[in-house]
Amino acid sequence: MKPLRKAIFPVAGLGTRFLPATKTIPKEMLPIVDRPLIHYAVEEAIEAGCDTLIFVTGRNKRAVEDYFDRHPELERELEEKGKLQELEIVRNIIPAHVRCVYVRQPQPLGLGHAVGCAAHLIDEDEPFAVILPDDLIDGAGVGCLRQMLVVHQAKGAAVLALEHALLADVSRYGVVAVRDEEERPLKITGIVEKPLPQDAPSRWTVVGRYILTSDVMRELSRMTPGSGGEIQLTDAIAAVLKDVPTYGLAFSGKRFDCGAKRGFLEANLHYGFQQE
Ligand code: UTP
Repeated sequence: MKPLRKAIFPVAGLGTRFLPATKTIPKEMLPIVDRPLIHYAVEEAIEAGCDTLIFVTGRNKRAVEDYFDRHPELERELEEKGKLQELEIVRNIIPAHVRCVYVRQPQPLGLGHAVGCAAHLIDEDEPFAVILPDDLIDGAGVGCLRQMLVVHQAKGAAVLALEHALLADVSRYGVVAVRDEEERPLKITGIVEKPLPQDAPSRWTVVGRYILTSDVMRELSRMTPGSGGEIQLTDAIAAVLKDVPTYGLAFSGKRFDCGAKRGFLEANLHYGFQQE
């Protein structure tokens, strides 16, 4: 199998839970302490060896492109003022060997649709990662994607990051069926989006990290809207499960749901106190 080199960051959502801030600031640019959410996601992908970062953007997302671009006026001014530490910080957000690619999602038709907008950038038989920046994960030493990469390489399989949720919470997530609850990593045998608690196949919920194969892209290209009128990534994963071995990793570390206000605040406190 080809090595994992490409990571897709879907950042075209409307971020309605953070209105009015997200009227002009993309949700992914909201800062956790001093760095925007998307910066943490990019660092995690680079740590896992990705050298091609694909951002699926939409209207109002210019700030994301500007953030990862050079800023010659700012750099000149910092240099003239002798602020060399700050200069290093703004210059080195993206290492020289990594390239950024931007594709547009013309309308926010769902996560699956956003990922599918990058289909032309993924080769046949090439694995790719998907990182949702609003799921911020402190992997406590080893980033979540890197932990998943170990499973991907050992099993030659697709990998989803999983958390064990309360039954009352499962209907907010994609939920997987597993072959054996005791097995690690967990072999996934089914997946459904936002089931009612009584219909959930387990309490293992999918969080915003995926290592997928090009089969998923093929499936996305012929899909119609599912749960909530959106094209769901979960449905495409479900459709290829019988052909693509897929494992779930109960990752080490702590996840913050920064798409919600409480999680966003908790992440700010967590990372803020780490810097003291
Ligand atoms: P969310 O479900 O959190 O949606 O998307 P959202 O629009 O960003 O936020 P709310 O719910 O309105 O507050 C999860 C991820 O998928 C991306 C989002 O940008 C986010 O990173 N996404 C979602 C897209 O890129 N396109 C879409 O059509 C939907």
